[in-house]
Parts: sequence; C-alpha cells; structure tokens
Amino acid sequence: MDPRLQIRVQRYGWDRAAEVYDRAWSGPLEPAQSTLLEMADLKPGEGVVEVACGSGLVTLRAADAVGPGGRVVATDLSDGMLERARRAVDDAELEQVTLLRRDAGALELSDDEFDVAISALGLMYVPDPGVALREMARVLRPGGRAVLAVWGERKRCGWADLFPIVDARVNTEVCPLFFQLGTGDALRYAMDEAGFREIVVRRLETISHFPSEARILEAAFAGGPVAMAYSRFDETTRGEVHREYLESVEEYRGGDGYRVPGEFVVARGEVG
Ligand SMILES: C[S@@+](CC[C@H](N)C(=O)[O-])C[C@H]1O[C@@H](n2cnc3c(N)ncnc32)[C@H](O)[C@@H]1O
Repeated sequence: MDPRLQIRVQRYGWDRAAEVYDRAWSGPLEPAQSTLLEMADLKPGEGVVEVACGSGLVTLRAADAVGPGGRVVATDLSDGMLERARRAVDDAELEQVTLLRRDAGALELSDDEFDVAISALGLMYVPDPGVALREMARVLRPGGRAVLAVWGERKRCGWADLFPIVDARVNTEVCPLFFQLGTGDALRYAMDEAGFREIVVRRLETISHFPSEARILEAAFAGGPVAMAYSRFDETTRGEVHREYLESVEEYRGGDGYRVPGEFVVARGEVG
C-alpha cells in the first residue's frame, strides 16, 4: 500500500475509534500496557515521549510515574484519539502532559530530548516501523531507553481472520504489515537496526474478553485499521463480514461472551 494512503486509512480509521476505544480495548490491551510500563521503570522527574498514545490509557499512567517534576509528550496521528486523551488528561489535571498530533515517522521534536520513549500497540500501523524506531532513537538522550509493545504471532491471535475477511472485499490490504514485528525476532532486529542495544524481549500470552457479539463486532469494525473500508461497505457486505468474523471466533464463545487468545511482544532497548 502507498504509505500516504496507509497513513490516511489509519488516521481516519482511528478517528472513528475514539468513542468506542476505551470500552472495547482498555481491558484486552491492559496486560501489554502494564508490562510495557513495568519494563520502562519510569522515575519521578524523567522526560518521556510517547508514540501512538491513542486515548491516553498509557499516557496517564506514565504521567503519574514521572510526577509533576517530569513530563510526557504524547503523540498520535488521529485528532479523534488525541481529543479523548485531552479530556482524560484535563480530568486528571496532569499538567506535565503535552499532546501533539504527529506521525510516528516524523515526530518534529529535538534530538536528545527525552530519557524514555514508549509506544504501546502502535507500531503495527505505521508504514515503515524502522523509520519510527529511528525517530525514537533520535529524540532520546545517550543512554535513554525505549519500550515498545506490539501484537505477537498471527497464529497465536485468535481474532486474526479479521484482516483477510475485510481484505477480500477491498482493492488493497487494509493493514499489510500488522503482524510483521510480532513474528519471530523481528522486533529485536528492527530495534537493533535502529541503533538500540541491550535489547530485552518478552512474549505474553493473553486472553481478550468481549462480553457479547455486539461488543466483539464493535471492537473489530467500529474503529481502527479496518474502519475506513468497513464504513464504505453496504448493509449486505457488513452482514457478511460480521457473519464470517463471528464464525472465525466461534470456538472462543462461552457463557460470558468471547474469550479470544492472543499474544503480545514487549521489548526494551537503550541507545548508545
Ligand atoms: C491500538 S491504538 C493504541 C493506543 C494506545 N497506545 C494504547 O495503548 O491504548 C493505536 C494507535 O496508533 C495510532 N497510529 C496509527 N498509525 C500511526 C502513525 N503513523 N503515527 C502515529 N500514530 C499512529 C492510532 O491513531 C491509534 O491511536
């Protein structure tokens, strides 16, 4: 996919996610976010840059960890997600947070500015994760650290048929590189290529709970990578993709909804 088109698909797809995101995804993503924060080991007074901050779920926790004497510059591509983050930051009265609309590939921040770079579940969506990793390395001071979380191997993510189901009905794949970084040692290699050292990688098995058919469909289609394609489907096509997706996760349905297995990869590295 043309990188500019991919950026547009993500930007406007995530705008559509803003209203449903926390309800749909805060539970499923929490294990990866908590592991990322544990591995980041943020200290009071530190300066943090966050890439693809979304609605601010990690931003708020990072801001608490660095305290009023530190700062968090949280960036994302989507105005809608940043607006949600803005409300959450204002409600929590966290003056140490600055929110900026930025593509992960061009942060427009100074060299050597931060102690820590973090990105939770964002790098799968950028057209060239290597460029985004080099941007993080560039804005970190010497000895600074980055901690990144992505989804893991396609075969370990029970919801992964979502992409082929949607791709079968559009001209170009909606999220062609989604599982690239989660496969094998790809994230470690990408970090190494971008100049990170002392790389530590953890894989986490997870179970994502969606309490009903309506909620698992909302989480999949309402916003995010497939949302732009989905928004252009007619009612018949929407019915078809709903049916095929529910069939693909049927084996995970039980008395309290769907419990879908998945895997996260969380990695930490330092710049020299
Ligand atoms: C799954 S959400 C993760 C949000 C947040 N980090 C969290 O853990 O809840 C993915 C986010 O990546 C953002 N994103 C997608 N492509 C991006 C890009 N090229 N640059 C910056 N952010 C991007 C989306 O707007 C969305 O907010």
